[in-house]
Amino acid sequence: MTKICEYDATTWDAEFAEDLKAQALAGIEEGQVLFFPRLAFPLTDAERHFLSPATVGKSKNVSFDPLTGALKGFSEQVSDREALGNMMARFASSSRALVTNLLSHYRTALLPGRTSFRPVEAAGRASSWRKDDTRLHVDSFPSAPVQDRRILRVFNNVNPDGKPRTWRLGGSFEAVAARFLPSLSAPLWGSAPVLEWLGVTKSRRSPYDHFMLQLHDRMKADLDYQSGTDQVTHDFPPGSTWIVFTDQVSHAVMAGQYLLEQTFYLPLEAMQDPAKSPLRILERMMGRMLV
Ligand code: SIN
Ligand code: FE
Repeated sequence: MTKICEYDATTWDAEFAEDLKAQALAGIEEGQVLFFPRLAFPLTDAERHFLSPATVGKSKNVSFDPLTGALKGFSEQVSDREALGNMMARFASSSRALVTNLLSHYRTALLPGRTSFRPVEAAGRASSWRKDDTRLHVDSFPSAPVQDRRILRVFNNVNPDGKPRTWRLGGSFEAVAARFLPSLSAPLWGSAPVLEWLGVTKSRRSPYDHFMLQLHDRMKADLDYQSGTDQVTHDFPPGSTWIVFTDQVSHAVMAGQYLLEQTFYLPLEAMQDPAKSPLRILERMMGRMLV
């Protein structure tokens, strides 16, 4: 069962004692959720205006690239785009400070991905079962292959009305893989370069990416698994932060509105123990290399 381990930091640049850092590093690689119940992300008065579904268009999320400053997904109604971009950039840099202070083992290897702001109620948001994040899943992106990188995400609930973000958390990656491995099929020979050439994927989809996408889909499609597997429900209150390897920890969001999220990619070899990664676990279970 997924463990939620609490840390009492109240600022994004908090320094942590060496024993806490060692505990956090071992814990997150085991598949724990690192939970900061008192780590809020304060918004300015101008930023509080973005706490409305009217901030987004059809995409339902605002997306920000901390490397280029590109901002996407906002609606025509947003007049102060600079303020929106500043909020996203501050969440990106705050998240990076937190991760590099606590998980300092990853400091030099950590690659920033997108920052996202989700102002739409999570319950009932999905347009298809595949996009339905109220179903337990591990993260895998159809168009953005990770090759051999891990997906590490920082979440903060910025809800102003006291409403928690309610998640379900399932069993270990080993248990999920053992259940679904027999139903996964290998990629069609030669398909990865074709998908890249067609622009379906932004880079080459590795066999690992292929199997993780299938795992994501099989988990979401299996309603017996969704209701029957051992799981816990956890409320992340407003003003709290949590860090998760979402490619490893099976998770689902049941309800909540107004979330900030920062994605990081971590090369496998930067882990303290790469053997704990989904890639190495799948390779051991399948008896073959997947990248
Ligand atoms: C997800 O990563 O599946 C969704 C998390 C959330 O929006 O709370
Ligand atoms: Fe997810």
